Amino acid sequence: MERTLEMTNIEKDFDKFLSKPIEEKIPYFTKEGRIYDCLFAQQFNRETLEYLFRIANTLRRITKTKEGMEFASSLLNHKRAMLYFVQPSTRTFLSFLNACHILGIKTSEIRDTSISSEYKGESPEDSIRTFSSYVDLIIMRHPTPNFVEKSAWLMNRTKRPVPIINAGSSKDQHPTQALLDMYTLYRSFNGEIDGKTIAMVGDLKRGRTVRSLSYLLKNYKNIKIIYISPKEFRMEEDVLKFLRENKIEYLETENFEEGISQADAIYMTRIQDEHDKNGESKNVDYYKYSFTKKHLNIIKKNAIIMHPLPRRQELSVEVDDDPRAMYWRQERNGMWIRAALITYIFRVDSKIHIELNP
Ligand code: CP
Repeated sequence: MERTLEMTNIEKDFDKFLSKPIEEKIPYFTKEGRIYDCLFAQQFNRETLEYLFRIANTLRRITKTKEGMEFASSLLNHKRAMLYFVQPSTRTFLSFLNACHILGIKTSEIRDTSISSEYKGESPEDSIRTFSSYVDLIIMRHPTPNFVEKSAWLMNRTKRPVPIINAGSSKDQHPTQALLDMYTLYRSFNGEIDGKTIAMVGDLKRGRTVRSLSYLLKNYKNIKIIYISPKEFRMEEDVLKFLRENKIEYLETENFEEGISQADAIYMTRIQDEHDKNGESKNVDYYKYSFTKKHLNIIKKNAIIMHPLPRRQELSVEVDDDPRAMYWRQERNGMWIRAALITYIFRVDSKIHIELNP
């Protein structure tokens, strides 16, 4: 009975916290001036982003040799991480797992609650608390809206907090995907992201990657965003409001060919029909928003084609051999930028001689 009452008060406290503006929440997830829990794209400023890009560049270069790999894997070989991924994932899971291994971190994982004690009725909140008994970092993907944020909030109230990294939260955010997307833009344009036009295509309403990327683009000057989608899947008003408040130019269109022809980067996304309530995706003509070989002739000569992956028919495999196709490199960039983020959270970046160039 007492426990139920206590939980109720905690729930109320969290609801109060959740309703605060993001700027008021960010300090709660920051320690000594640095991101501690990585939950929202809005936590990154330009200085931090570009510092992480340089750490990632350095790590990928030094680990090409055995000595360099031994150095990298000594950086955090005293740490353990939990990968709690209870929503499907291939590349976010594998890139985090391998990022941990590059840094020497030992890992454990739960990917299916039907074989954890949640099956016996343990709450996800108690699961998080249990992980923190054994590890120093929790990396999590979860289908429940705001649950990643709640986990970090709960952790920070305990006597043994461990940092939490959001590896994809419901339809809300996927901040480390946005980080790797920005890193890909940074590498593709030799560090010159200012002034670029980014087209985001597809199911913008339910895609968390395009939400996080839109927030992160605030850190660059004179950016223009073209949102290309069927009317049913337009970008949500909260993100558009953020862009207006931050004076970021954007336009919305249903005209795929006109939109992509103006862009420096074309960011394709798949339909997010796992979020359908009544099979509504079937009523939308998504094929109009598919990039095929013929579109290679209408985009800019130096444009890049991105996709968070996985893809379906919206991005033809015939595009893969074009030098502007950046998505395979993009997914590989994810491992390096995630490794960089982990060194930053654990403050071992000071041990790395970080390169200055993009
Ligand atoms: N981009 C992305 O999040 O891919 P996965 O779902 O495979 O992790």
